[in-house]
Amino acid sequence: DSDEDVMSPNLTSCHQSYGRDDLLVYCCPPENPQNLKFIDFKFPEPSKPLRVRKPAHLLDEDYISKYSRAVSIMKSLPYSDPRSFSRQANLHCIFCTGAYDQKYSNISLNIHRAWFFFPWHRMFLHFHERILGSLIGDDTFALPFWNWDSPEGMTIPEMYMNEPLNHKERDGSHFPPKVADIDFVDKESGLGPQEQIEKNLAMMYNQLVSGAKKTELFMGCSYYPGEGGTCDGPGTVELAPHNTLHTWVGSSFNPQREDMGAFYSAARDPLFYAHHSNIDRMWEVWREIHGKNLPISDPAWLGSYFYFYDENLQLVRIKVSDVLDLSKLRYAYEKVNLPWLNKRP
Ligand code: C2O
Repeated sequence: DSDEDVMSPNLTSCHQSYGRDDLLVYCCPPENPQNLKFIDFKFPEPSKPLRVRKPAHLLDEDYISKYSRAVSIMKSLPYSDPRSFSRQANLHCIFCTGAYDQKYSNISLNIHRAWFFFPWHRMFLHFHERILGSLIGDDTFALPFWNWDSPEGMTIPEMYMNEPLNHKERDGSHFPPKVADIDFVDKESGLGPQEQIEKNLAMMYNQLVSGAKKTELFMGCSYYPGEGGTCDGPGTVELAPHNTLHTWVGSSFNPQREDMGAFYSAARDPLFYAHHSNIDRMWEVWREIHGKNLPISDPAWLGSYFYFYDENLQLVRIKVSDVLDLSKLRYAYEKVNLPWLNKRP
């Protein structure tokens, strides 16, 4: 199989892109792309400690201050440093607004609404987590996850209400103790907390179990390089709770409920990373429920590759096939109950 059959970005093609229909944005890296040197991804040493991601609402003061310190340092780095918080946020903007063209055409590359949704965000979080850990010299550091599929985790976790994890551009009427509506589109459900919780659990059952029996329903449609290969078929979880919670968190005063409500701005909110940590966890949970070890065996998916900076400022090329086994990536999710698993409506 040749390189032209797999998806990859043309690193020299970064250009302005549309953040919204009425807004051009420029999220590209400041480095000269002609000079970029990259290495191929290598798994962390198997002897490395396992990073265990835990539910954000259950973390203690020690963890919160450690994570806060890492984020503060990340926010203090200059834009020229690819590890800086603003560069991390813009990396998401680049891949999510089509700022890169595909390697062998001038068609833009966009990792949403198709089968790159889960693996691309897993890669992004993996490098983000390694960078945070290295900024505080802690190689056990793990991102938290926003456990919105469990009743106790259905509000914005308190730690995200304080500096430096809080964020201005959010909907104030959705601050804790407001229970999130994981099926939110644009208007309030009007449900009381208990009813909302029940509705969310039923929705979870649908998105992970009954509505996601076929791989493509969960992973999204096949998206191949070149003309005619584009598709627009997000998986169940990408649509909700993923998109819906992005919208629910963002500010109602902004046209697309930025920052969380729009792709170009979403990763500026620290809550983005906890949200995506739970999305990534849902991928594992889905595999366990449906017994899918290799979700997709198409070489066009497995061989597709993207680039990320690691904690040593080294540009790394990483393939989808590199991110299918969490233990090889040396992280895990703390096991928590799945209260929706028996919520067949
Ligand atoms: Cu790339 Cu939650 O979006």
